[in-house]
Amino acid sequence: MDRYVKLNNGVFMPRVGLGTYRLNDPRGQVRKAIELGYRLIDTALDYDNEEQLGLGIKDSGIAREDLFITSKVWFRWSKPGDARKMALDSLKKLGVDYLDMCMIHWPLNDYYTAYRDLEELYREGKIRAIGVCNFTPDRLIDLLSFNEFKPQVNQIETHVRCQRWTEHEWFDRYDVTHQAYSPLGAGRIDDLMEDPLLGELAQKYGKTRAQICLRFLLQRDICILPRTNSEERLKENIDLFDFKLEEQDMEALKTLDRKEAVIGRPEDPAKVKRAIEVYR
Ligand SMILES: NC(=O)c1ccc[n+]([C@@H]2O[C@H](COP(=O)([O-])OP(=O)(O)OC[C@H]3O[C@@H](n4cnc5c(N)ncnc54)[C@H](OP(=O)(O)O)[C@@H]3O)[C@@H](O)[C@H]2O)c1
Repeated sequence: MDRYVKLNNGVFMPRVGLGTYRLNDPRGQVRKAIELGYRLIDTALDYDNEEQLGLGIKDSGIAREDLFITSKVWFRWSKPGDARKMALDSLKKLGVDYLDMCMIHWPLNDYYTAYRDLEELYREGKIRAIGVCNFTPDRLIDLLSFNEFKPQVNQIETHVRCQRWTEHEWFDRYDVTHQAYSPLGAGRIDDLMEDPLLGELAQKYGKTRAQICLRFLLQRDICILPRTNSEERLKENIDLFDFKLEEQDMEALKTLDRKEAVIGRPEDPAKVKRAIEVYR
């Protein structure tokens, strides 16, 4: 399997990226990740870590063009230009001239206007790809039907307990790349790593349970953004390209699906109501 996927606008994006939400030491961890071969860094205005990540990227000495940097604009926009300002602010904090991808973080508030700000930045070359997050297929189809550019990526919670087969089919139909956030269930699914099937497959392939979970997504053509504070696990989470799960094991892993998201449930009104109350 190639380590990069070609997006619908021809841009290449690494299949594995570093998740950075609430990292203990964003600066140190991003530098280590780059040394270990990570080339995609996933952040957001809302993570409040862009300056630290920018310093870590500088520390690493990597050439800008060798990295794929994603950030996201938050739903505190209310008028044209607000999302543009947020994205430009991210550039400044990260210390870069352009973003490889800028995403609409949640389909809330006037995200159509925000999306058009991103289209403008895309035309100007300030962002190389436009992404959305937490878009259910119905919202995605609406958005891409009434705008000049369709998004390249939809980032949505996906893991062995929340496999999103139906959604994936729809994203695929519109050639929008599916990127999984919380690919390990955000560390919030207590019994996930104790699952006997994962133990059995880990033993069979000589890999860890987490690697089985991550490889399962890669083989479904889903990109992943695991996050860890540990150096050992940083290595583990990108060491996924030297084995292949057999078809029968892919089938068996399907049985772990409970269709349960732990963080992002854009289809759940109660969750959306709470997100608006807490984060607006
Ligand atoms: N667009 C959105 O709305 C959205 C929402 C949520 C997240 N995201 C993005 O997606 C990224 C990943 O999602 P996430 O941070 O929610 O969680 P995640 O990557 O699914 O899980 C992180 C948890 O798994 C543990 N872990 C990591 N590697 C492991 C391994 N090899 N073995 C066992 N446990 C392991 C980590 O603990 P240790 O640190 O102790 O290793 C941590 O508790 C985020 O950081 C962020 O960049 C986007």
